[in-house]
Amino acid sequence: MSSHGPARPMSARKSAPLRGEALIPGDKSISHRSLILGALSVGETHITGLLEGQDVLDTGKAMQAFGAQVERLGEGEWVVNGVGVGGFAEPEGVIDCGNAGTGVRLIMGAMATTPITVTFTGDASLRSRPMGRITDPLKLFGAEAVGREGGRLPLTLVGAKNPLPVRYATPMPSAQVKSAVLLAGLNAPGETVVIEAEATRDHTERMLAGFGADISTEVTDEGRVITLKGQPELRGQRIAVPRDPSSAAFPVAAALLTEGSDIIVPGIGQNPTRNGIFTTLVEMGADITFENERLEGGEPVADLRVRFGPLKGVEVPPARAPSMIDEYPILAVIAATAQGTTVMRGIKELRVKECDRIDAMVCGLRANGVDIEEGEDFMIVHGTGKIPGGATCETHLDHRIAMSFLCLGMASEKSVKIDDAGPIETSFPDFIPLMERLGANFRRENT
Ligand code: S3P
Repeated sequence: MSSHGPARPMSARKSAPLRGEALIPGDKSISHRSLILGALSVGETHITGLLEGQDVLDTGKAMQAFGAQVERLGEGEWVVNGVGVGGFAEPEGVIDCGNAGTGVRLIMGAMATTPITVTFTGDASLRSRPMGRITDPLKLFGAEAVGREGGRLPLTLVGAKNPLPVRYATPMPSAQVKSAVLLAGLNAPGETVVIEAEATRDHTERMLAGFGADISTEVTDEGRVITLKGQPELRGQRIAVPRDPSSAAFPVAAALLTEGSDIIVPGIGQNPTRNGIFTTLVEMGADITFENERLEGGEPVADLRVRFGPLKGVEVPPARAPSMIDEYPILAVIAATAQGTTVMRGIKELRVKECDRIDAMVCGLRANGVDIEEGEDFMIVHGTGKIPGGATCETHLDHRIAMSFLCLGMASEKSVKIDDAGPIETSFPDFIPLMERLGANFRRENT
C-alpha cells in the first residue's frame, strides 16, 4: 500500500516503432509558481496549460487554505484571485503537500515573513526529505521552525512579525532554496539578495518580474547575484504554462531506444536552465531536431522531432547538472542502451530527491543486468546496447524512477516490472495512455 492508495504494479516490454505526437502536460515548476504567485498578487491570475498532477493540485489546495480563491475553469485552465503580498491568512488545518518538495518548500518561503503559524506535512517520501536547507535561511528573516529530527516534516513554521531582509548564498545548487528565500523576501522591507554559485532554474526570477516585482540578476565572480526589492505590489497575470521538458524526456527516451521510432513532441520548454538533457542527448548522437523555436509566455519553446538511432556513451560535464538534475534517472536508462561508458558526476543532490535516486537507479539497473558503478556523487553506466531485463524495480514513491524503469523495459530482452505506477500521477497523470497511444507495450500486473 502506498500513500496514494493500493500499489499499481506495471510492466513494460519491447514494442513496435513509436509513432505520432506526444502532447506533454504543463511544466511542474512553472505550474507551482503560477498558483503561488497568483495567490500573492492583487487581482486575477488566469492560467492555461496548468499541470493537473497531484503535486500541483496540492499546492492549489494550500493556496486556498491561505485565503486565495482558486478555481478550475476547464482542462488546465485555472483562475486565482490573490490576497496580495503579506496577505496570507493563517490556515485552519495542517498543510499537506503530498509528494511535492517544490510545493512545500516554496510555500514555506512564501509564508515565512507573514505573522501566521503553519504546520506542514506530506507523504512518506516528503517526510523523509531535508527541510533545514529551507528553514535555515528563513530563520534569518526572523521566522521560527520546529520540525522532527533533521528538520524533517511534519514541521511548524512561525512567520516573522518584523521581517528583516536577507543576503544569502545558497550552500547547494537548489532552485527551491533560492525561490524560498526570494518569496520570503517579498514581504520583507529593503533588498533581499540570493547568491548562487551555479545557475539553477530561473522561473521564479522570470515570473516575479512578470508579476511586477523589481528583481535583477547580475553575473559576478561569486556567481549569480539576484536582488529583489521587498514589499512590491504584485499584479495578477495571464500565464501560458509551457510543456514540461522534464516530462518530455521520457517519451523522447522511449523513441530513442525503440527501433524505428519517429515522434513529434510539440511546444517543449527550452529554458537554458532546464534543457541540459537535450544537449547531452545530442552529444550522445541522438537524432533530435528542434523546430519552430519561439517564445511562449516568456519562456523559449520548440517542437522536438525524435528518431531512433545509435547512441554512444559520453561524459556529462558536472557543471551541467543543475540544468538536468531531474533527468539523470532516465539518462542512466538511455546510457544503458548506448555503446560505451556514460559518466555522470556532480550529482549528489540526487540522493535527496523524492527518493535516493542514485540508489534506486543502481539497484533497478543492476537487477536487470546493466553494468553500473556508483559513488556518493556519481553514476557510471557501461552500456553494451543489450539489456537482459526480467527483474522488478522498486519505485520508492518516486514518479521519475517509475517512468524511467518503464522506459527500461521498452529496451530490454525480457520485460521489466515496477512495483507501483501510482506515483506517476504526481507529475504526468496521462503518461501511461500517452505512451500506449505512441505504441508502448505496457501491461498492468497483479501485486
Ligand atoms: C525544482 C527544483 C529542483 C527539481 C525539482 C523542481 C523547482 O529541485 O529537482 O523537481 O521547481 O524549483 P532543487 O531546487 O532542490 O534542486
